[in-house]
Amino acid sequence: MFYDARKRDHGFKADPLKSLIVPRPIGWISTVDPEGRVNLAPYSFYNAVSEFPPIVYFAITGTYGDNPTKHSRMNAEATGAFVVNMVSEDLKERMNVTTAMFAHGIDEMKEAGLTPALCRYVKAPRVAESPVALECIWWKTIELPIEPGREKSAGSMVLGQVVGVHIDESVIKDGRVDVAAFRPVARLGYSEYTTANNVWPMRRPDDPR
Ligand SMILES: Cc1cc2nc3c(=O)[nH]c(=O)nc-3n(C[C@H](O)[C@H](O)[C@H](O)COP(=O)(O)O)c2cc1C
Repeated sequence: MFYDARKRDHGFKADPLKSLIVPRPIGWISTVDPEGRVNLAPYSFYNAVSEFPPIVYFAITGTYGDNPTKHSRMNAEATGAFVVNMVSEDLKERMNVTTAMFAHGIDEMKEAGLTPALCRYVKAPRVAESPVALECIWWKTIELPIEPGREKSAGSMVLGQVVGVHIDESVIKDGRVDVAAFRPVARLGYSEYTTANNVWPMRRPDDPR
């Protein structure tokens, strides 16, 4: 089949696009507002986009209520920082708790029974239970094009430079991060999830090692 993405004439009940771009890593974004109140929310439009310096982004896909945008973006811009926490498989239910539409200022880390841990370079806490956390300095936000009639769904990319990296000793084996030890959760389409549990090595043909 083929469909025109601008007309969305796919004929399915649910738009299939997000089920085609999978699996997507989940950035579990912790921030504080200018008063120091903690916020935590998952973003699957999240990834690294460069290495030198390391830059990551999470993307807002719309707004709700009267908020001009989502709290994670508001706090990242207001304080100049955010933290990306890794969702290991044992944290999946608690990650899901933090996606609820809590009022601004409500601490989703507390709501989900998670423990805040101090960061070294940013004010926002990381999730202590998370095996990996990236401390990020907000760099810029890119406003994405607005589709006519879909103003409330206007998207934006929040980009930050990774300045501090926490890796729990339990997931380090022989000088490498062992993905099987923490089974990071990734998002599929249709509210479905997966973990990395089928890993194989494949070197580039021109790799001399
Ligand atoms: C696994 C998962 C991934 C999500 N990914 C995104 C995303 O990439 N962009 C987005 O705007 N919302 C995403 N959401 C919804 C947000 O988590 C939700 O709107 C949340 O309330 C935003 O919180 P905040 O306003 O505190 O930032 C996702 C939800 C879940 C459960």
